[in-house]
Amino acid sequence: MNVIESVAGMRGWSREARASGERLILVPTMGFLHDGHRELLRIGKREGGRLVLSIFVNPAQFGPGEDYGAYPRDIVRDLKIAGEEGVDAVFVPKAEEMYAAGYETYVEVERLSKYLCGRFRPGHFRGVATVVLKLFNVVTPHGAVFGKKDYQQFIIIKRMVKDLDLAIDIIGAETVREKDGRAMSSRNSYLSPEERSAASVIPRALDEAEAQFLAGERVGGVITDKMKKIIEKEPLAVVEYIEVTDPDTLQGLSRITGSALVAIAVRVGKARLMDNRVLNG
Ligand code: PAF
Repeated sequence: MNVIESVAGMRGWSREARASGERLILVPTMGFLHDGHRELLRIGKREGGRLVLSIFVNPAQFGPGEDYGAYPRDIVRDLKIAGEEGVDAVFVPKAEEMYAAGYETYVEVERLSKYLCGRFRPGHFRGVATVVLKLFNVVTPHGAVFGKKDYQQFIIIKRMVKDLDLAIDIIGAETVREKDGRAMSSRNSYLSPEERSAASVIPRALDEAEAQFLAGERVGGVITDKMKKIIEKEPLAVVEYIEVTDPDTLQGLSRITGSALVAIAVRVGKARLMDNRVLNG
């Protein structure tokens, strides 16, 4: 397994891999890998060819006062996991090279970035889209795998790829969950045991949304109210948003006519936790 720190080194490796006719698959991450990331890597591996994992805590997607400095990091453990999952190259760029002095170019997926998390984290998706495009340009993959826990990010990346005519297949991976239903996330490491058990209210609220939908409820507000009531019973959980939206456009739905996305962001202690469920109509 090659561990590559420079943009030039990564470009050279990719050029050789592509010249030998290999299909290149990229799994972009911010590290502190967990079983959810292992699943992304396994999906990437199944695509065949060569597997590249990028590990970069991207300063451009954190707002002032957010957890950029505190974001969990453990490169030794990450490299061990990468080896176990058969990764061919790990790209670990430095922030000083990715955003060198004088850097001033950003990518904005304008409308989709404004909804859901975009309302609470201004500039976040601009940072995500920018770094993902930069990673695509350096690694030049044929395909890239993204988790659907970050559903809005997944939709935004697909939009960017379409709008900018990038020849890259975007592959979505279903969310991997803990035994109690919580979505796996690097930020779960912020939670105390008590907070962990409080956070399990999130999948329970999503179960309620699905049960309502299956029972025939189609009014978005009724579904979100029922979910809020469940979360409010948990004193350690504070709702940031719960919304029912169109799964493709992310526009809020007062009435569901086909499929819908139920998206939720909740604060538990220092962690901001996101989850979602697609209700297939
Ligand atoms: O989902 C993440 O870990 C990050 O947002 C990503 C896609 C690696 C960009 O920094």
